[in-house]
Amino acid sequence: MNPLLHIHNLHKTFHMHHFAGKQIVGCSGIHLELDHGQFIGITGKSGAGKSTILKCIYRTYIPTQGHIWYDSDSFGIIDLAQATDRQMIEIRQKDIGYVSQFLKILPRVTALDTVVEVLVEAGVSVNEARAEAKSILKHFQLSESLWDAYPNTFSGGEKLRLNLARAMVKRPKFLLLDEPTASLDNASKASVRDMILDLKRQGTSMIGIFHDLDFMETVVDQEFNMKNGLLHGGVKA
Ligand SMILES: Nc1ncnc2c1ncn2[C@@H]1O[C@H](COP(=O)(O)OP(=O)(O)OP(=O)(O)O)[C@@H](O)[C@H]1O
Ligand SMILES: [Mg+2]
Repeated sequence: MNPLLHIHNLHKTFHMHHFAGKQIVGCSGIHLELDHGQFIGITGKSGAGKSTILKCIYRTYIPTQGHIWYDSDSFGIIDLAQATDRQMIEIRQKDIGYVSQFLKILPRVTALDTVVEVLVEAGVSVNEARAEAKSILKHFQLSESLWDAYPNTFSGGEKLRLNLARAMVKRPKFLLLDEPTASLDNASKASVRDMILDLKRQGTSMIGIFHDLDFMETVVDQEFNMKNGLLHGGVKA
């Protein structure tokens, strides 16, 4: 069986046009294979290039070089480094959930609607979407008084829990998690672990970035460490 994801020789370099030809390396020479149903954890120091890899997969960044072969529902095996924007929109809607390190707040959309929207885009009826959205917000213990508020004033942990609910509610085939437990208390971390394990049981494959190694080791199948923009290891957790 083909792997779900096969990253081959991925490079991302940023060209800083304001600084006469200056270049910053995001990541270089990355190789990674993720099997269906597997969860890989990535660790490494700040600035090593961890988020850059996830952003290349989700195509927030266009890779400078290399291939990201992905076994998609809509198009079969497709190179995400070369996919068109339209293909990426469909793959994001149908296949991939992404919890970014810093939540992008949609202006004037309530917390509840932020989650409902994802399901409606995926073809779920509005009534069903509202029920499922409420249930996952409850799971992540987001206070009901916040459901009809705008998230721009939420605390860091509230924003993160909302972001997790948004990415996980559609039970994606493939989930990218960029520090999903940063700034959470132990009760919230436990609800994140429960949801991760639940999704895993249902077949979701995941790549997660973690600073909290103790937490990571309770959920991943394999660990990689990043140094100088390269991935090392592949240790079974
Ligand atoms: N849009 C960008 N433009 C220019 N440089 C960038 C951009 N995004 C990332 N970089 C640079 O690429 C390098 C890797 O950044 P990245 O965000 O991937 O690190 P990280 O490993 O996720 O770090 P952290 O643990 O702090 O989140 C850094 O030197 C960063 O400054
Ligand atoms: Mg990062």
